[in-house]
Amino acid sequence: AVPHNSLTFDLPVSSKLPNLPASEVPSKAKVVWHKFSSQTDFERDMYFYGTFPEDFTWGVSSAAYQIEGGWDADGKGPSIWDNFTHVPGNIKNNDTGDIACDSYNKVEEDIYLLRALGVKNYRFSLSWPRIFPNGRNNSINSHGVDYYNRLIDGLVANNITPIITLYHWDLPQALQDIGGWESSALIDLFDSYADFCFRTFGDRVKFWITINEPQVIAWASYGSGELPPNVKDPGSAPYKVAHILLKAHARVYHTYDDKYRASQRGVIALCPNIDWAEPKTPSDPKDIEAADRYLQFLVGWFAHPVFKNGDYPEVMKWKVGNRSELQNLPSSRLPVFTAEERDYIRGTADVFFFNTYTSKIEVLTKVDSSWRLLNWIKEEYGNPPIYIIENGVGLATKSSIDDNTRIFYYKTYIDEALKAYKLDGVNLKGYNAWSFMDNFEWLNGYDPTFGLHQVDFDNPNRPRTPKRSAVYYAEIIRNNGIPLPKEDEFLYGEFPKNFWWSVATAAYQVRKPRRNLKVSVDTDGKGLSIWDKFSHTPLKISNDDTGDVACDSYHKIEEDVEMLKSLKVSHYRFSISWSRILPDGTTRYINEMGLNYYERDWLSLFPFCLSPQVTLYHWDLPQALQNVGGWENDTIVQRFKEYAELLFQRLGDKVKFWITLNEPYNAAYSPYVVGHNLIKAHAEAWHLYNETYRAKQGGLISITINSDWAEPRNPHNQEDVEAARRYLQVQRHPVPALPAAPGFGFMLFSVFCCSLPEFTESEKQRIKGTYDYFGLNHYTTVLAYNLNYPAGVMSDRSWLNSGSVWLKVTPFGFRKLLRWIKEEYNDPPIYVTENGVSERGAFNLNDTWRTHYHRSYINEALKAVVLDGVDLRGYTAWSLMDNFEWAVGFDERFGLYHVNFTDPNLPRRPKASARFYSQIINCNGFPDPATGSHPCLEPEPEGKRSLYVHFALCVVVVLVLALLAYKYGKLSKRSRKRKHMELHKL
Ligand SMILES: *[C@@H]1O[C@H](CO)[C@@H](O)[C@H](O)[C@H]1NC(C)=O
Ligand SMILES: *[C@@H]1O[C@H](CO)[C@@H](O)[C@H](O)[C@H]1NC(C)=O
Repeated sequence: AVPHNSLTFDLPVSSKLPNLPASEVPSKAKVVWHKFSSQTDFERDMYFYGTFPEDFTWGVSSAAYQIEGGWDADGKGPSIWDNFTHVPGNIKNNDTGDIACDSYNKVEEDIYLLRALGVKNYRFSLSWPRIFPNGRNNSINSHGVDYYNRLIDGLVANNITPIITLYHWDLPQALQDIGGWESSALIDLFDSYADFCFRTFGDRVKFWITINEPQVIAWASYGSGELPPNVKDPGSAPYKVAHILLKAHARVYHTYDDKYRASQRGVIALCPNIDWAEPKTPSDPKDIEAADRYLQFLVGWFAHPVFKNGDYPEVMKWKVGNRSELQNLPSSRLPVFTAEERDYIRGTADVFFFNTYTSKIEVLTKVDSSWRLLNWIKEEYGNPPIYIIENGVGLATKSSIDDNTRIFYYKTYIDEALKAYKLDGVNLKGYNAWSFMDNFEWLNGYDPTFGLHQVDFDNPNRPRTPKRSAVYYAEIIRNNGIPLPKEDEFLYGEFPKNFWWSVATAAYQVRKPRRNLKVSVDTDGKGLSIWDKFSHTPLKISNDDTGDVACDSYHKIEEDVEMLKSLKVSHYRFSISWSRILPDGTTRYINEMGLNYYERDWLSLFPFCLSPQVTLYHWDLPQALQNVGGWENDTIVQRFKEYAELLFQRLGDKVKFWITLNEPYNAAYSPYVVGHNLIKAHAEAWHLYNETYRAKQGGLISITINSDWAEPRNPHNQEDVEAARRYLQVQRHPVPALPAAPGFGFMLFSVFCCSLPEFTESEKQRIKGTYDYFGLNHYTTVLAYNLNYPAGVMSDRSWLNSGSVWLKVTPFGFRKLLRWIKEEYNDPPIYVTENGVSERGAFNLNDTWRTHYHRSYINEALKAVVLDGVDLRGYTAWSLMDNFEWAVGFDERFGLYHVNFTDPNLPRRPKASARFYSQIINCNGFPDPATGSHPCLEPEPEGKRSLYVHFALCVVVVLVLALLAYKYGKLSKRSRKRKHMELHKL
């Protein structure tokens, strides 16, 4: 029974939590580690959408000494922090809290900002020496009382619930002079101060925190001694102080319970600080015990007596007791509660307040601990109502309004809290961000800053400005969490009838047989490529992997065809190895064995309903051409044309879909010259095909480019918006082996749309329009900002990772990119020629990650077709199987099929994603389960039945096509060409 976040309370008079027995050792809560240790990274990192309960309370937090200033105003007494900061050298930059944010003089302004944020509560602390200048109730400072009355009244008038901390570290100096928290006299004195506060403010205040972070007080102020009163006595003072703090807390609780609860109906508890501890090896019981012990010493020290049995955790009593014995002390350094005291302390909290941080954003991993931490509290303390009272991040850079790092922090931390609430039933009631505004950060002075609002500390007026994180947090509050955005909702539906489903590989990555470097010729007469040479240079590739054998597709044609059949793809995209056909890159010598490999061994094995999509150049340039300058030598344009012509002649009756160059931007290892020659080579191959081969072969030919989507890091910042636009024009894809060059995007422009100054007039005419379709390789999205040319890029911390650092799972960007291409390039027919995701580390056939990737990306493609009218004709998954992933060797695996590279037979096995992709193909999209049963969704018995159906359909289609071809053959040659062009436009 806990009040909701409203000002009308309807509570039973006592809201004590049930008493719990002592914690076992290690505690029961160890189930949390077990539970989470079996979690996959995917389950852990997947962003979760949803909202919090109606009565959830959102707020921001602050503390008196950190924001108020007015350190000696209107009769306030000095606190230990006033004395401490006044000694030069104690605080970074000799900063003090003398003025801080001057909140003492800015009640209206602060309330205005809180209203703008839309918070439901504001957590602040009372300065004890502002109310009792000497710490005792014989010296009431009415100005101080007035200040808090004005603040509380203002909050209540604006429907903002005050959450008040009675003690947030600023002890009256006068009480330190009698021994501070080492003196048990403080128990009565704290109680009389609290009693005054309940009596004075309690009619309007329903949430009370007795002591903020008692562990920090006990340890940092009396043990390590960094914080005032700087007592350095780590052996025993912290235990003694904690003992007194606990008694003082319990006393205040009972005062509230006895005198005020009936009329005021609030809740009261203490507020520990918790940093999560993760066992190093979650399967090792010793490590679990260590993590548990850590939490018991940090949290259990205060929470165990209050929430469990009135006493310290057993493990603490044993440990400290044993150590004390070894030190020959007469008794344990950990004091002992009497039975009466235990009874008195037990149950003195109505709710579980706590603060949590992670030390620094730099050391944060993707694992944010709050999900686990909240589960631990639930298990350990019997599922109490929980309020996160402080959570935030300090950024060491000069306070900036554009604080995207803080946005990412809240975006992930609040999501972790949401998971704990939604998935695990943690009784989470509220969340407060630290901090309301930049403020005095204790020993660190005014740097780093934690605020949602920036405060200009150089300006005597201390003006406040909302940061972007404030706008972001306000939106979360408005939405009461993180609901799934409308545009991310799953779309059921099917792709157009003749949609192409394909899967891709590239020659060097899968089908490179062994070869002999010395004679620069390898199996069956193949010549060396630049990748052969590169991969044999030590330290260039992870683990010094090479593509020497790769998947050995050179010898495994039947197996590869079987995989394609069982995927049910309509197309297979592969590339031709230039040096296999022309060992020195020129037509001086044609390696018939290489040609035969593609023509007879490979293409003739293609089943009826499987069509090839052939890439002429997928990066493996013959080394002989590189020796004379490669793409920097203008003669390469002619060489490429001759190579292309040979392929058109010999393979053109079977191949109806040509890709001249794959990702030329990545192949452009030095700018402009190379880019020029790549574009010109492409254009010449296109013209050759268009003029000489198209009429009789009737295929399509174009270029395929790689493009990420780019979002501005800050959509409200014009510079970032420009940076994103530039990035889209000038793609930079991090292939470590091939430093990318600026300027390619502009060259691409020249193919699809406009001309450029870098080309001569006649070149421009020659290049423009040399495409039959827009070939697109797409993987991920970046956030662009204006750091340097063409743009700085980063990613959003909440985006799901993959096995490749550059690849974040960002399906929304796919749809945006498709729409952008439609608009930017005048609605071209688009074929997606690559799209996929990598994994790293231990192999798992159940690749949920990849299934999720293809499901969500293909769904975005469906939205692009159905909702945005993008002319998307086909989709290609990268890759058919795990393969040689360029500079990272075999470490990053993109395959729908697993290849066991340690087995000399290189066996292939379908991963779960292969079955899933096959089902999408079978259904031609995502039929809505709500519209009845769909046979394509049902699992196939042995996969045979539908294979037969597929085959039968295939035969019918071929017959129809043959019939059409017969009629079509009667048309004249001239009109045939026109006819084709029309067909193609359809
Ligand atoms: C604390 O500061 C006050 C006012 O500046 C001063 O009078 C007092 O002597 C100081 N006390 C200690 C213990 O430093
Ligand atoms: C802080 O004050 C001390 C003593 O006056 C001085 O030596 C030191 O340089 C000051 N530090 C800064 C950063 O101003």
